[in-house]
Amino acid sequence: MKRTLFSPITIRGLELPNRIVMAPMGVRVAPPTGEVTGEAFQYFLERARGGAGLIMLPSGGWARADVAHPSVPIGRVPAYETGSAEGHRRLVAALREAGAKVGIQLQHRGRQATTQLFGYRPVAPSAVPWSPRAEVPEALSVAEIRNLVERYGRAAARARETGLDLVEIHAAHGYLVSNFLSPDSNQRDDEYGCGVEGRARFLLEIVARIRSEVGTGFPVSVRINGSDFTDTGLTLEDSKKIAALLERHGVDLLSVSAGINGSYPLTIPPYYTKAACFAELSKEIKSVVAIPVVAAGRIHELEVAQRLLDEGWADLLAIGRALLADPELPNKWKEDAEPRVRKCLSCNYCIDSFWEGGGGCGVNAAMTRERELRPEPARRAKVIWVIGAGPAGLEAAWRASRRGHDVSLFDARGEPGGQWVLAAKPPAKEHFRSFLEYQWQEVQASGVKTHLGKKIEAREILESHPDAVILATGAEPATPSIPGLREAGQSRRGTCWEGRFPGVRTAS
Ligand SMILES: Cc1cc2nc3c(=O)[nH]c(=O)nc-3n(C[C@H](O)[C@H](O)[C@H](O)COP(=O)(O)O)c2cc1C
Repeated sequence: MKRTLFSPITIRGLELPNRIVMAPMGVRVAPPTGEVTGEAFQYFLERARGGAGLIMLPSGGWARADVAHPSVPIGRVPAYETGSAEGHRRLVAALREAGAKVGIQLQHRGRQATTQLFGYRPVAPSAVPWSPRAEVPEALSVAEIRNLVERYGRAAARARETGLDLVEIHAAHGYLVSNFLSPDSNQRDDEYGCGVEGRARFLLEIVARIRSEVGTGFPVSVRINGSDFTDTGLTLEDSKKIAALLERHGVDLLSVSAGINGSYPLTIPPYYTKAACFAELSKEIKSVVAIPVVAAGRIHELEVAQRLLDEGWADLLAIGRALLADPELPNKWKEDAEPRVRKCLSCNYCIDSFWEGGGGCGVNAAMTRERELRPEPARRAKVIWVIGAGPAGLEAAWRASRRGHDVSLFDARGEPGGQWVLAAKPPAKEHFRSFLEYQWQEVQASGVKTHLGKKIEAREILESHPDAVILATGAEPATPSIPGLREAGQSRRGTCWEGRFPGVRTAS
């Protein structure tokens, strides 16, 4: 069965070693200048070493500057011109050395940009904001549209010069090109609007411009929405027509995603969404084209991945968050070691922390900090007691043990997991248990001495004097400081509603 998943595929002369694509994901590992930092380097390298066949770099640095607002002169920011191109060159060489091929996505945020974020007003085919509260974008003139087409061509040429293997036009998710494709955001009555062909004109001109820059030997991919999942946006029927046009215009690969800001389902589907949630869309698009099609959206289990390929739903699979959670997922799948995978929970902490200025993963503390948290052997092995076998205690225990420390783990309860056991109880959150199972397996494999059902007293610590004690006895509930809350029944241990609402009792 795994034959398809780990069989190579050739796209316009580019041979990919397997069908696993690391989905483009803008994570905050690079500062705004677009330099490839040491953190970014290590973050991508671990995913290439982990076995992904194609790593899609997100838009950033020169790739973002090149396709900026038409009022920004091309090549305005020197750092994008030199530093980041050189950094990308070194990064691409290292990822290829690790066995992966490397592409980059060219993205313009269109009406989903903000002046606050970019320093200039968002632009779009028409002056229609994506929500009533969003900034109204400037409608592009024809001259500005042509300027943007040039910019995409220039960015693709630079991608090729930088040694990249493939470029992808981001035409999905409600960003600029997707704004042109969607009848909701494109209300133009000139040649760039009206029917499907008019709305697709901007994209097709970009494709043609890129092809004239990169030549016939270089693969060009387009990421499109199979559906916008809004009442008035792009439908699957329109997407199929656009897919056929793209194939006719020489596009080599179609990556199918879905959703825009404010749509339902969401582009980054949360934990309660079904597995392979957008695969029906890729299957439909695949039915109208002969070029390879990439599916995306919660493809996190080996069995699901295999089935999509074996049953012809797609030719390749874009895997996003599951590779943030475990960079080695492809190798583990290949080696039949799926139980050892640290599974993505689709908790979406990755995207929430992105907007808060960080870059994190709910189950992988080392995500984007791979360099800093590399497990170096301890210089001096210590005796360490970890008190509390919840997620923090389990993680601390196995990591310390792997570094060569002599670790004992205690919990008063007879089972590991602490409050996480409760977190995995609600319907649709049952799979949260997989994190505990992963941690418990690591604890056992790393040789931690476990003492469940054993409450540790301070006296015992003083008597045995281990070198270090890690107190991981659980989080306290956060109580907001709202005036009057305490008087309304707030106790130190949480909110007590007893007596305020008939029939509500606090647990004793
Ligand atoms: C942190 C984060 C950033 C993302 N950035 C991009 C992006 O720049 N371009 C893009 O096409 N998709 C982006 N996506 C969407 C992913 O490529 C992917 O389609 C989505 O996460 C669903 O796949 P998954 O369930 O395997 O994570 C992003 C997703 C995440 C979680």
